[in-house]
Amino acid sequence: MSGLIDILVLGGGGREHALCWKLRQSPRCGRLVCAPGNAGIAEVADCVDLAIADPAAVVAFARENGIGLVVVGPEGPLVAGVVDALRAAGIAAFGPTAAAARLEASKGFTKDLARARGIPTAGYRRFASAADAHHYVAVHPLPVVVKADGLAAGKGVTVADSNEEGLAALADIDGPVVVEECLTGPEASLFVLADGNSIAVLPSAQDYKRVFDEDTGPNTGGMGVVSPAPLLTDALRDRALAEIVMPTLAAMAEAGTPFTGVLYAGLMLTADGPKLIEFNVRFGDPEAQALLLRLQGDLVELLLACAEGRLAEVTPTWSDETAVTIVYAAMGYPVTPITGTLIDNLDEAAALGVQVFHAGTRRNASGKLVAAGGRVLAISALGADRGEARSLAYAAIRKIRWHGGFYRRDIAKI
Ligand code: AMP
Ligand code: GLY
Repeated sequence: MSGLIDILVLGGGGREHALCWKLRQSPRCGRLVCAPGNAGIAEVADCVDLAIADPAAVVAFARENGIGLVVVGPEGPLVAGVVDALRAAGIAAFGPTAAAARLEASKGFTKDLARARGIPTAGYRRFASAADAHHYVAVHPLPVVVKADGLAAGKGVTVADSNEEGLAALADIDGPVVVEECLTGPEASLFVLADGNSIAVLPSAQDYKRVFDEDTGPNTGGMGVVSPAPLLTDALRDRALAEIVMPTLAAMAEAGTPFTGVLYAGLMLTADGPKLIEFNVRFGDPEAQALLLRLQGDLVELLLACAEGRLAEVTPTWSDETAVTIVYAAMGYPVTPITGTLIDNLDEAAALGVQVFHAGTRRNASGKLVAAGGRVLAISALGADRGEARSLAYAAIRKIRWHGGFYRRDIAKI
């Protein structure tokens, strides 16, 4: 395979900036379009308005623009069936079908699959509504984990230390509920590419979910990442692949809904071995910003091969270095981020040799860069080890002039 290919990336966060940055480096990359994109993505791609969760609109745009590959960043378009529609139209698309995206869209679906296949995960019960779960949560041994069954943008999970707290979490859920036993242990994330025939294992990562230092405050989409995950040894990774990832892929294939794209397994490393907390059916954000910094090969080749069922032809190579990503968030995130504040000196940060990925940014009327979301920037650095990558990332973030932002000081701390 050779020749230029025009590519459409769906999404507009830091993950999509990292995807566009890496796709752009490929000699195969022709026109690169991103919907909706952001101010950083606009430096490497054409940003367009498009209803990205409307399958017909995405297919029409791809046809009109001669797009040869669509890369889907967030879960919304996947769950809406954008990949199904593109494939039906004969357009290569990276990501799972809507049926396979249920691994993320329904926690109940995934828990039932895990139980049927003997995949290690927390014990659980499903309920059709919060009202049905009331008695069970009221008397459950503590801590009790209460989850909205559907997509909740990282906010649908409460680990409750009292039954009252569990009931309060339940009261916020509209729709089906999953109640789980609480697992303990450090967490790690494992990523594999799957094309329906074979898989490629990607580097692991550990993310920092809580908004404040020392893992305090509410959960967020992620405040930082280190890759590889320090505690996921090769032996634990192989065990998680054998006991969790491969049986899941086999179950999906046997059900006639093979999984394709990137499967992101959130693991808890318990005393009894790795257990599944959840699946995501896409690259993580900000995990992608760390992972893609370590990719040495051609991302167009890799994602196209995955979309076309030719993954076995490509062997991605990864840097042995450690990547650290620090998220610079707008004051008030994750509750009510303050937007519109001016950001400056990104070039001085980048000059230290880091990548400054944009998430929620835009240009104001006078062309100045301003905050336009909760997570605003993701500063990503490589180093010989965790300490070196961490020092570089923090040195760079300190160069940025932004009065409206904050970041955690303990990402990747040893
Ligand atoms: P999820 O959105 O399912 O990844 O859950 C968000 C976070 O909640 C996880 O990263 C864990 O820290 C925590 N969590 C979820 N399920 C459990 C569980 N069964 N036991 C303990 N912690 C959990
Ligand atoms: N950083 C967590 C996620 O992307 O789901």
